[in-house]
Amino acid sequence: MLTVSANDASFGYRVNMYRHALQSATMVLRDGLPVEDVVVALFHDVGYTTSFSNHGEVASALLGPSISERNHWMLKNHAVFQNFHALHLPGNDRYERELWRGHPFFDWTAEFVKLYDQATIDPDYPSEPIETFIPMIDALLSSSS
Ligand SMILES: [Fe+2]
Ligand SMILES: [Fe+2]
Repeated sequence: MLTVSANDASFGYRVNMYRHALQSATMVLRDGLPVEDVVVALFHDVGYTTSFSNHGEVASALLGPSISERNHWMLKNHAVFQNFHALHLPGNDRYERELWRGHPFFDWTAEFVKLYDQATIDPDYPSEPIETFIPMIDALLSSSS
């Protein structure tokens, strides 16, 4: 699903979702976060084109038992946290995320969206190629049962 989107349109964004995914995963990798977080970043929007309104749930379901509850929760709710940064959208409730203030995974989700989602649309960022992440995907998927 991810690689077939390599040449997709960008739908008005500065980069398409494929390049957004590579940049997100690359920044997580370069910040030294765990392999799970790198792979989660790579796939966090994999359902965006086909299931926009619940694309976080799509990614969460696809990664299934391979990821922690922390990342399941982050994936499912990241779009609401994204709204905090979408100042330009009419009718957007940027404080909707406050419903979950105090939740154990609130801070991780806010951090992921701030650093690795809303900021990863730079067309000039030197992202790693998809090949960099293949061994990490294999390692993560083979570690679960
Ligand atoms: Fe998203
Ligand atoms: Fe995203």
